[in-house]
Amino acid sequence: MGMASANVHCTNATDKQISYANNSSLQNKVLLKTRPMLKDTIKDMLSKIFPVTCIKLADLGCASGPDAFLPTYEIMNTITGICQQSHSESPELQVFLNDLSHNDFNTVFRSIPAFHARLLEDKRDLRGPCFITGIAGSFYQRLFPNKTIHFAHSSYCLHWLSKVPKGDLLAKSLLDLVDKGLVNESDVDSFNTPYYYPCEEEPKKIIKNEGSFVLDKIKTFKVN
Ligand SMILES: C[S@@+](CC[C@H](N)C(=O)[O-])C[C@H]1O[C@@H](n2cnc3c(N)ncnc32)[C@H](O)[C@@H]1O
Repeated sequence: MGMASANVHCTNATDKQISYANNSSLQNKVLLKTRPMLKDTIKDMLSKIFPVTCIKLADLGCASGPDAFLPTYEIMNTITGICQQSHSESPELQVFLNDLSHNDFNTVFRSIPAFHARLLEDKRDLRGPCFITGIAGSFYQRLFPNKTIHFAHSSYCLHWLSKVPKGDLLAKSLLDLVDKGLVNESDVDSFNTPYYYPCEEEPKKIIKNEGSFVLDKIKTFKVN
């Protein structure tokens, strides 16, 4: 999916009725569904790097709604819980929130004080300090220096297209309907869904061919 970002589709800024913040309940459900896997993965990561003074996290494709801080919150809670169980001090966290440069980072940054206030409120001295940084750029390119990130998270982003790939099933199906005279070509031209939902084999093949990662688990689930 290494696509050029010439025709970039960003989520809408959060001060609008059509904003991502006001229209992301599906993404929220996905985050909640994947929570157990996130927790297991964090536990596994910690067991490999502990003791550590500062954990560096990246959330790739954070957008700008309230969910921009949700993965960070979950990850912090999991780390704090594990440290409590083992009677060790919680490490500091450095969090890199990444999205395309057109993303509404102003809203993300304006939400940082509220996020810190929430952290203080619900677990006072148990957490380590958390430092948030914005990283603008495409995750299809290099975003960090070597060996910077302990844990990278990305939710509901890989299907987000900057260009329709060749052989896209949805495009093919729509063009078939045009050929059969069931849909107007101009309607298809004006219709834009910047999504691509791969079947399970596609990401498996990409990860295998790219070679940097080993796929431990893959799960599919339905959301509506
Ligand atoms: C549907 S939103 C998901 C946001 C958030 N992760 C969530 O779960 O609610 C997809 C986000 O991915 C971002 N995105 C898409 N392609 C990207 C890329 N190549 N690099 C960085 N961010 C990207 C989009 O700008 C958008 O904010």
